[in-house]
Amino acid sequence: MASVIKVNLPQQSYDIAIAPGSLEQLGEFMTNLHLGKKVLLVSNPTVFQLYGETAIASLKAASFEVASHILSDGEHYKTLASIENLYNTALENRLERSATMVALGGGVIGDMTGFAAATWLRGINFIQVPTTLLAMVDAAIGGKTGVNHPQGKNLIGAFHQPRLVLIDPDVLKTLPIREFRAGMAEVIKYGVIWDAQLFAELEASQRLDEMGHIHSELIDTILTRSCQAKADVVSKDEKEAGLRAILNYGHTIGHAVESLTGYRQVLHGEAVAIGMVAAGQIAVELGMWTQQQTQRQDVLIEKAGLPTKLPAGLDIEAIIEALQIDKKVKAGKVRFVLPTQIGAVTVTDQVPADIIRQVLVRM
Ligand code: NAD
Ligand code: GLY
Repeated sequence: MASVIKVNLPQQSYDIAIAPGSLEQLGEFMTNLHLGKKVLLVSNPTVFQLYGETAIASLKAASFEVASHILSDGEHYKTLASIENLYNTALENRLERSATMVALGGGVIGDMTGFAAATWLRGINFIQVPTTLLAMVDAAIGGKTGVNHPQGKNLIGAFHQPRLVLIDPDVLKTLPIREFRAGMAEVIKYGVIWDAQLFAELEASQRLDEMGHIHSELIDTILTRSCQAKADVVSKDEKEAGLRAILNYGHTIGHAVESLTGYRQVLHGEAVAIGMVAAGQIAVELGMWTQQQTQRQDVLIEKAGLPTKLPAGLDIEAIIEALQIDKKVKAGKVRFVLPTQIGAVTVTDQVPADIIRQVLVRM
C-alpha cells in the first residue's frame, strides 16, 4: 500500500506516492492520470543502468510508447546546452502537447527534466521519480525547475509542477552513503523548521548516518513526514511570496560555502548542515532560541555523519561578501531563516554582520 500525500495547488494538485517497489508500477500510476501515450524517460548513465529497464518495462506494460534520453551525470552538466540536446530528442520523437517527460534520477535530473518539460511546446506533463533522498524529500516536490548559468546556480528556471511524484524507497539501497547523508540534512531541516515530532523521532534513533542502520519504519517516517512538510509549505505558498522562504533554513551560509568551494568539494546537503549550525548559533546570539536547542540540532547533524564545521581554509570575510550576491538578498539585505523553537522558524533581514562574523569565527 502506498502512502499518498497531496500537494494542493489552485491550478493543479498532485500526489506524492511513497511505496517500496513502486518503480515497477510506474506505468500503472501514470495510467490513472490519463496522459497521452508518448513518454520521454530522462535519466543519467548511473541511474539508468540500475533502474532504467524496470521503469521502461513498467511503462510499456501500461501501453506507453517510450523513448529515452540520457544526460551526463553531475551538476556540471546542469546547463542550457544539455537542455538543447534534450529538446533535440523531443523533436526526433515528435513529443506533442499530450506527451510526458519522466525524470528518473536525483535533483539534477529532476530540475533539468522539469525545465525541459516547462518549456517544450510551452509546457508538457512531467513526472518525478526521484532516486536520491534529497530529491525524494525536497527537489522533486514543489515545481522549482531549472539549470545553472556560468555565473550562478539555478539562475535560469521556471515553476512547473509535476503531475505525480513517485517515490520507491528501495532505490535508496544503491545510493552512495555520502549522498544519503546529504539528503538527511534536508530531513533534519524539516524537523527544525516545521515538524517537532519528526525531530523527536530522529532524536530517538541510534543512527542516522547509513540507510542500512536505520529501521525501515523510521525510513518510512522520514519520507512521509518530510514530504508532508514540503507539501504543506508549497501548498500554502507555491511561488515563494513569503512562507516558502523558510525552506531555505541553513541555505544562506550554506550557499556561500558551496559557491566558495566551487560546488565540488562540499555537497549541497553538507553545506546546508554547516549553514544550519551557523543559523542556530546566530539565533542563540540574538536571544531567539537556547544553547540547549541548538545543541540538540547539532547532535542530529553529527549523528547523520554531516559536517558541523566550516571547511578548513575558508575565508570568513569571503563568506560575508558571498552572502551579498546570493539570491536570498532582498533590497540589499541578507535574509536569514532562524529557529525560534524546535519546529518553528522566522525570516529576518536584521542580523548584524558582526554577529555573523562572530559565529563563523567559532566554527
Ligand atoms: P544528484 O542528482 O547529482 O545525484 C547525486 C548522485 O547520486 C549522482 O551521481 C547520481 O547519479 C547518483 N544517484 C542518484 N540516485 C541514485 C541511486 N538510487 N543509486 C545510486 N546512485 C544514484 O544530486 P541530488 O542531491 O539528488 O540533487 C542536487 C540537485 O538538486 C542540485 O542541482 C540542486 O540545485 C537541486 N535541488 C533542487 C531543488 C528544487 O526545489 N528544485 C531543491 C533542492 C535541490
Ligand atoms: N528547495 C527550496 C524550495 O523548494 O523552495
